Amino acid sequence: SAAEKSGYDYFMLKEIVEQPQAVADTLLGRVGVDGTLTLDEMRLAPSELREIEKIVIIACGTSYHAGLIAKYAIEHWCRIPCEVEVASEFRYRDPILDRQTMVIAISQSGESMDTLMAVRYAREQRARVLAICNVNGSTIPRESDGVLYTHAGPEVGVAATKTFLTQLVACYLVGLYLAQVRSLKFGDEINAVIAQLANMPAQVERVLATVGPVRELAHSLADSGTVLFLGRHVGYPVALEGALKLKELAYMHAEAFAAGELKHGPIALIEEGLPVVVVVPSREGRGVIHDKIVSNIQEIRARGARTIVIAEEGDETVRPFADELIEIPAVPTLLQPLVATIPMQVFACELALAKGNDVDQPRNLAKSVTVE
Ligand code: G6P
Repeated sequence: SAAEKSGYDYFMLKEIVEQPQAVADTLLGRVGVDGTLTLDEMRLAPSELREIEKIVIIACGTSYHAGLIAKYAIEHWCRIPCEVEVASEFRYRDPILDRQTMVIAISQSGESMDTLMAVRYAREQRARVLAICNVNGSTIPRESDGVLYTHAGPEVGVAATKTFLTQLVACYLVGLYLAQVRSLKFGDEINAVIAQLANMPAQVERVLATVGPVRELAHSLADSGTVLFLGRHVGYPVALEGALKLKELAYMHAEAFAAGELKHGPIALIEEGLPVVVVVPSREGRGVIHDKIVSNIQEIRARGARTIVIAEEGDETVRPFADELIEIPAVPTLLQPLVATIPMQVFACELALAKGNDVDQPRNLAKSVTVE
C-alpha cells in the first residue's frame, strides 16, 4: 500500500532514501567511542580468529559485489589472503578448505540456495563459516558457526540497495575487527578508518542530497542500446554493481570493466556517443590509480564516448574530460563504495522508471532464489 511506501511510488525509492539510517543502524552498538569494536555476536572467539590463515567469501548477485569490495579491505587491513567466488561455482571446483579457513557467506535473505549449498560444503570441509545476513533467523545464519547481521530493515524491492551498503559496513567491521584482534602494527590506520566509518551515515546522507541531476541524466539515456561502466580498485566492483543494476531494472545491456583492462580489448567497443560511466577513485593515498583512470577517461573520450564521471568533490582534474560530472563526498578509498554506489542505484532506478518498468518487481527476477 501507499502507506507502507511512506508516500513513495516504489519501495525501491524509499529504500534508497533509507540508506543513511540503514548504515547507522548497522554500526550501532558495534563501534565504541574509543574505536573499540564489539562484535561478540559473531560467536567466533578471538583465539579462533587469530588462527585464520585464509578467507574465502561466497555470495551471489549484489552480495557477491560486496564480497569483492571486502577483499580489498580485508587484505589491506588484515594481511590475510582473501578469495571471493560466486556461490554457484564454489563447491563444484573442489576448493581447498581447512580449519584455518574462514568462509564468509554474504546473503541478504539468508536463503539463496547456491550460497546455502556452499555453506554446507564448507562446513563439511571443517572451515569456520561466518554469515553476513539481513534476515534474522534465516537458514544460512542458522547453519553457520557465527553471524553478523546487517540492520537494514526489511527490503522489498527485488534489486538490493540498502542491504548492499549495510553488507559493506558489515564486511568493513569484520576486517577491522580481525585487524584489532590480531593486533597488527598499523593500529593508527585502523583507528582512523574506524572513525571515518562511524561518520559514513552523514556522508551517505550528503550523496542523497546532491544526487538530483542523476535523475535528468538517466532520462536522457533511456534510448541507449548499451552503457559501459569502468572502475579501478574498489571502483571496479562498484562498476560491476552499476552494470548489474541497469540490467536488473532497466533491462538494458550493460557491462563493467576494470579500467586497466580497457586497452586489452573493450576499448574496441567505444564509438561516437556511447555512454560510459567511470568511477574515479579517491585521491587520498591512491594518487597513481587516480591519475591512470583520468588517462582512461581521456582515451575513451577521444574516441567519442559520452563520459559520465563519478568523482569526489573538488577533483578538478577530471572536469575537462567529463561530459557529465557526478560529485560524491571525499572519503577514504576503501570506504568510497558506500558513497559511489548511490548514484548508480539512482541512475538505474530512474532509467527503469523512464522506460515504464516496475522497479520493485523486475521481470524474471526473484528477491531470493531458493533453487540451485
Ligand atoms: C537475487 C536477487 C539479487 C540478490 C541475489 C542474492 O538474485 O535478485 O538482488 O543480490 O539474489 O541474494 P541474497 O539474499 O543471497 O543476498
